[in-house]
This record gives sequence, C-alpha cells and structure tokens, in this order.
Amino acid sequence: VRGADEKTEETYAHIISTLPKKKSWGQELQRYQGFWYYPFFLDGVISVQHNFKVRPSDVLIASSPKSGTTWLKALVFAIHNRRLLATHIPYSSLPGSARDDDSGCRIVYISRDIKDVFVSSWYFFNDNSLEEAFESYCDGVTLYGPIWDHQLEYWKASIERPQSVVFLRYEDMMEDPVNGVKRLAEFLGRPFSMEEEEGGVVKEIVKVCSFKYLKNLEANKEGELQFAKVKFTKPAFFRRGVVGDSKSCLTPEMIERLNLLNDRMTCSSSSSS
Ligand code: A3P
Repeated sequence: VRGADEKTEETYAHIISTLPKKKSWGQELQRYQGFWYYPFFLDGVISVQHNFKVRPSDVLIASSPKSGTTWLKALVFAIHNRRLLATHIPYSSLPGSARDDDSGCRIVYISRDIKDVFVSSWYFFNDNSLEEAFESYCDGVTLYGPIWDHQLEYWKASIERPQSVVFLRYEDMMEDPVNGVKRLAEFLGRPFSMEEEEGGVVKEIVKVCSFKYLKNLEANKEGELQFAKVKFTKPAFFRRGVVGDSKSCLTPEMIERLNLLNDRMTCSSSSSS
C-alpha cells in the first residue's frame, strides 16, 4: 500500500493472513466480508475502507466484473464530466462515506444477467474449462462473487437510498439506451434541456458510447490496463456486447442452474419491494 507506514502494512497483512482461501479459475482467492478477491487486491480494499472519504461531487460507478463497467464509465463521463471513480467492491464493503447520504456522493450500479456475466468472464479470464469454471461460479467463488449477493446489496441500497444510488440493468440500457441515458442524467442532477434533446445530444452520447464506436476507437485497439498485479489488453474489454450471448455456450442444464441462482436475487428483491 503506497504511503502506508510499516505498522499499517503489518496490520493489513495480519488481517489478510487470517482470511479463508480457495482456488478458482486458476487463481487463489480470499474471502473478505463475504466476497472473494485476489489476495493482492485486499490491502488496497482495506486501505480504501479505512482512509478514503468521498467528496460531494463524486460519482461512484459500481458493478461486478464483466457487467458493462466500461460502457457505463463512458456514458457517465459524457453526461457528467466530473470526477468519476469505478469499483467492483461490494456495497457493504464500501468506505462509510460512500454509504452516507450526507456525503453527496452518487452511486451508479450496473447489473447484468448472471449467465451472460459468466460467459463474458470466462472468455475474459479464460483459465479453466467451461465446466470447471461453471462449478466455481455457481459456488459463488469468483472474483467479487457471489455475484447474486453483489447485485442484491446494491439493489437494496437503491431502494433504501434512491436519491444516492441507482440500479441499472445492462439489458434495459441495451434495449432503450436513449431513455437510459436520460434517466441517468436526471439522477446525476444533469437533466437534458429541451434544446439539447431536440438538438440530438442524447442520441449523440448513445452513439459515441456504443459498443461499435468504442471498440473501433484507436485508443481501444491496443495497449493494456493494469489493476494491481493483473494486466488485460484493452481490446479484451470489447468482445461482443450483446444480450443473451450465454445461450450459444451453455447447456440447458447450466442455464437452468444459473436461472435458479438468479431467482434468489430476483425473489429477494421483489419480496422487499
Ligand atoms: P461481452 O464479453 O459479453 O461482449 P466490463 O466493462 O464490466 O468488463 O464488461 C465487459 C462487457 O461489456 C463485455 O461483454 C463487453 O463486450 C461489453 N461492452 C463493452 N463496451 C460496451 C458498450 N459500449 N456497449 C455494450 N456493451 C459493452
């Protein structure tokens, strides 16, 4: 942890050394506050929890990996044009200030059908056979998993704190991006004026943030992004960008199992609404 003194480093190392471990998708993961992480992400997560304080103008983009984070970052930046932070940290593990209405920070969460997230993640991390990866995914042992708990926590927060947390679905945004962008702009306190709408500003934002447009940008055609010790190529963030891609890769039994897990999230969310 950059800047942390020796005692703090020791404390973090001690906390991390006590956490449960499991191997999944060719990597060791550790469970912290109910969710699974790469061990080398954890000192950063704990440090953020202890030291980070959001500012009133902050917008926090939150998601499980492979749920449309890159797309949402582009959209929110185009609408808001201010300091943006993106995280995969579960809601319950965010620093306290980010969960406090008085902080003024807004959280935009994007969720996605967990079947499509599984397939997207499998192509992205591509370590094990689909079958092995599937078992770990269903056990909830994947990076920032269990994904259904991740989504549920943010969904509940969006119900309890609607002025500060909005819960978007990848599928809804794909079906009607213009409406999605308008809703997002209102939530961010930057609604479009009639003139802007009539002048095609919303459509232009949708266009310049679309999968095809972003994928073909020179800046996204090569190079790498580094997260702690892991690196990914930029083009890997733009694979197919469609809804329902999992249908072509998963067996009917796999689809059924993931639907049941997904229902846990849907049932809990509809029973608390
Ligand atoms: P697929 O692998 O299904 O194609 P993340 O940004 O959270 O890593 O999510 C990556 C997923 O979002 C990938 O899904 C990627 O293709 C898709 N994606 C990236 N940019 C997108 C965009 N502008 N519109 C829609 N989907 C996009």
